[in-house]
Amino acid sequence: MSILEVNGLKKVYSTRFGGNKVEALKKVSFSVEEGEYVAIMGESGSGKTTLLNILAALDKPTGGMVKLDGWDFSRIKESAVAAFRRDNLGFVFQDFNLLDTFSLEDNIYLPLVLAGKHYAEMSQRLAPIAVQLGITEILKKYPYEVSGGQKQRVSIARALANNPRILLCDEATSALDLETTEGILALLKRINTELGVTIVFITHQLEVAQRIFDRVAVMENGVIIEQGKTFDGFAEPHHETTQALVERFLGVAVPERLVPELPVGRLVELRYKGDHAFDPLISAVSSRHGVAINVLHGNVEYFGTQPIGTLVVLVAAIREGQRGARDVEDALDELRGTVFGFKELTDAAVEEALDAPYGGGPRTAAQTKKTVQQEVLV
Ligand SMILES: Nc1ncnc2c1ncn2[C@@H]1O[C@H](COP(=O)(O)OP(=O)(O)OP(=O)(O)O)[C@@H](O)[C@H]1O
Ligand SMILES: [Mg+2]
Repeated sequence: MSILEVNGLKKVYSTRFGGNKVEALKKVSFSVEEGEYVAIMGESGSGKTTLLNILAALDKPTGGMVKLDGWDFSRIKESAVAAFRRDNLGFVFQDFNLLDTFSLEDNIYLPLVLAGKHYAEMSQRLAPIAVQLGITEILKKYPYEVSGGQKQRVSIARALANNPRILLCDEATSALDLETTEGILALLKRINTELGVTIVFITHQLEVAQRIFDRVAVMENGVIIEQGKTFDGFAEPHHETTQALVERFLGVAVPERLVPELPVGRLVELRYKGDHAFDPLISAVSSRHGVAINVLHGNVEYFGTQPIGTLVVLVAAIREGQRGARDVEDALDELRGTVFGFKELTDAAVEEALDAPYGGGPRTAAQTKKTVQQEVLV
């Protein structure tokens, strides 16, 4: 059964004096299964915080339905909602929401005090969390005495302190450096797998969303435009916004300093997924069709645990004239049929750098090889 479910969710914000209305969510339908680890991503203003606040029952929707653990929240009493929230939900706020008049430790204890817990139990629960988050030394300080990253970690500790079944994180790592982000993502993953806590993690960063989540949903202008398993969503996105996003992220540019030196040949970007061993393919295609294939640039990104590799290669003829041109076409056909992403790079910049028109027939192998070895494979 879904632990969180929203159906046709709408949220309209109206300004205080009835001026402009903002339609922050437009018919959003989305569900999260118990034990899932889900990422929601989207540009600033796409509606992520609005959605999470409604999921946490901190805000009411204008229309549509929200169910938490099978309860329709529009139909139960506010006091029952508050009790459910206290017993089941942990929330990491985008702006931390720490009270300046309390020490960091007391900020963390607050939800536990409200839940009627005793001090001994509270400190026992906090100690290991504080160690993992690296905040033990600063617990007696006040929020205004620590950095943004430290506040963020305290806010994560507070969300974990009442042992939630569902953890909702709004940009929980946006104020942290890469190393701390890695540590926190690993901690959350452990909490998810070892304790079975359901996690919904909001981020605007693709480099965070690509990580360890089971599933990812992408929002734009109050609508979910893409959702699916993390790897599939990024390997083959359906919506043009997601496609552009992934393209920006995965696309490898040929370093500018190399462009004027490029020998004549066909420049292609190949994308492959899974554990495809690529080197054998390149040498097999090269010897089968009698062409030179040189790798100019390569990159592998992991989405979840699966890799997507991108290679920019230059395919050049070894034989002269028409026969050489045919060899190159045949080699390109084989590559095109093997990889899942094939794009010939015909950018004006690259075209201009080549002293013959694109596709205007390769030079001889000797010329190509010399330039590639001397100038490109540095
Ligand atoms: N309380 C509010 N009153 C009026 N408009 C609001 C309010 N809160 C948010 N909005 C508007 O609703 C839209 C969605 O805002 P939301 O905070 O959900 O975006 P977000 O995806 O979380 O963005 P960010 O990545 O910047 O945090 C925006 O256009 C925002 O200006
Ligand atoms: Mg937000």
